[in-house]
Amino acid sequence: MTVSTSTTELQKNHVTIRRFTDQDVADEMVEEIIAAARRAPTSSNMQTYSVVVVRNPETKKQLAVLSGGQKHVETCPVFFAFCADISRLDAACKMHGQELVRGLETTLVSSVDAALVGMSANIAAESFGLGVVMIGGMRNHPEDAAKLLGLPDGCYVVYGMCIGWPDAEHVPNQKPRLPHELVVHYEQYSSADPTEKLDEHDKELAEHYEAQGRNLDAAAFTGPIAKRLNSHKRPNLRPELERLGFKFD
Ligand SMILES: Cc1cc2nc3c(=O)[nH]c(=O)nc-3n(C[C@H](O)[C@H](O)[C@H](O)COP(=O)(O)O)c2cc1C
Repeated sequence: MTVSTSTTELQKNHVTIRRFTDQDVADEMVEEIIAAARRAPTSSNMQTYSVVVVRNPETKKQLAVLSGGQKHVETCPVFFAFCADISRLDAACKMHGQELVRGLETTLVSSVDAALVGMSANIAAESFGLGVVMIGGMRNHPEDAAKLLGLPDGCYVVYGMCIGWPDAEHVPNQKPRLPHELVVHYEQYSSADPTEKLDEHDKELAEHYEAQGRNLDAAAFTGPIAKRLNSHKRPNLRPELERLGFKFD
């Protein structure tokens, strides 16, 4: 039985786009993307996220620097900053003479809310034929990003998103995903040793990169993970997020 819809086909065609044409994205389109994205489910209906839409070239330039020199942040016509935002929870509590108790749960709930609305925006943007790249590099310097965007206490950029029209000459082939059986479990998690499947995926991903003219690590999947994650990544993240009003206990 064939079961696919125009939405699942769109999702299955996803590739991250990092090169854009000079063509602008109309304000009406941006607003439609946001209107669609804002129908995303949100934990306890609290809507603990905010989106900052950035078009100003100077701001994008500075965001590009903060994200580790990612050129597409500067060259995209529109940049969205998806923020976890508990500042309104604070205001709501104050309206009733209460104090917001911040903890790991409020940090997680708001970060998940921001991720969900961002992913919904991704799908909405791609449905227009737009290209998208998410920017986790926005967590390199959370306090600087918050200052640049004028975020209040209790608000940080979880990730950004560059949106623009794909440069047809630089649309990459789809990246292979991990084997289905490694990721999807039915009824019970299968705790089989993943090494063999990871090895296969290393080879498949290396072939993908080679076809793109990139000659990376032969262990294309596991190699970079092992190199990157053998030390604490972004050790500044927790103290900076704490100073921005988020708690982890
Ligand atoms: C939360 C998140 C953060 C990301 N951050 C970056 C980033 O900072 N720079 C970048 O070029 N790509 C970034 N990406 C894109 C991923 O690298 C990309 O989705 C992944 O390599 C799979 O490729 P595909 O989306 O083309 O299938 C991010 C993706 C996610 C989900």
